[in-house]
Amino acid sequence: MSRISSIFSLVVLVVAGCQSNPNSEASKLNTDIQESTDSLMNRSKELALLTGKTLKGELMSAIQRGGVQEAINYCNVNALALTDSISKNKQVTIQRVAERNRNPENKLDDTSQEVFDSMKQAIQAGKKPEPIIVSSANKHVFFAPIRLEGACLSCHGTEDQIGKENLAIIQSHYPNDKAVGFQPGDLRGMWRIEL
Ligand code: HEC
Repeated sequence: MSRISSIFSLVVLVVAGCQSNPNSEASKLNTDIQESTDSLMNRSKELALLTGKTLKGELMSAIQRGGVQEAINYCNVNALALTDSISKNKQVTIQRVAERNRNPENKLDDTSQEVFDSMKQAIQAGKKPEPIIVSSANKHVFFAPIRLEGACLSCHGTEDQIGKENLAIIQSHYPNDKAVGFQPGDLRGMWRIEL
């Protein structure tokens, strides 16, 4: 009886010892990795938010200047230049990528396609697609969903919503445009930020 109880207390000691030792190398490493992943995630979210706000602001003022037509032409010339200049300024690579893209420069690579598919599946299952960081040996890549909103329909909705004239302007800039026919809530694309 006493042997059993002393084995029992030994086990308790060992288990408790493991758990109450936050300074062990392994648990410190885990905490460090967790902290750096959290801060990468926060930093990336901020960058996506900043870039999104900048693009939307520019889009709105172009529409105010000369309607949707002006805004299409403005985006054609400036969208990539804007994301590139924020990237340079922040020393990261910020992109908007999409399966059904307008500008073929924004196409998905293999990893982006996998992440895109999983976000699409989440939406189909009625869940909210979440931002994610895919890490490999020498880089971290952040992805976050870009969902379609009502305000996007004038350039990414149905033919009727875009209108014949504006559709013709879009097609003149983008002969292989695949970014039409979206509905609010659809997964329009993703932020891709290489850190
Ligand atoms: C005035 C027209 C217009 C409106 C409104 C508009 N877009 Fe676009 N969008 C464009 C053009 C033009 C491009 C291509 C830009 C380029 O050449 O890089 C584009 C590209 C994109 C891309 C990059 C991927 C790709 O297909 O090339 C995403 C993502 C995107 N739009 C999402 C949105 C969302 C979300 C909204 C609403 C909040 C929106 N857009 C509203 C015209 C518009």
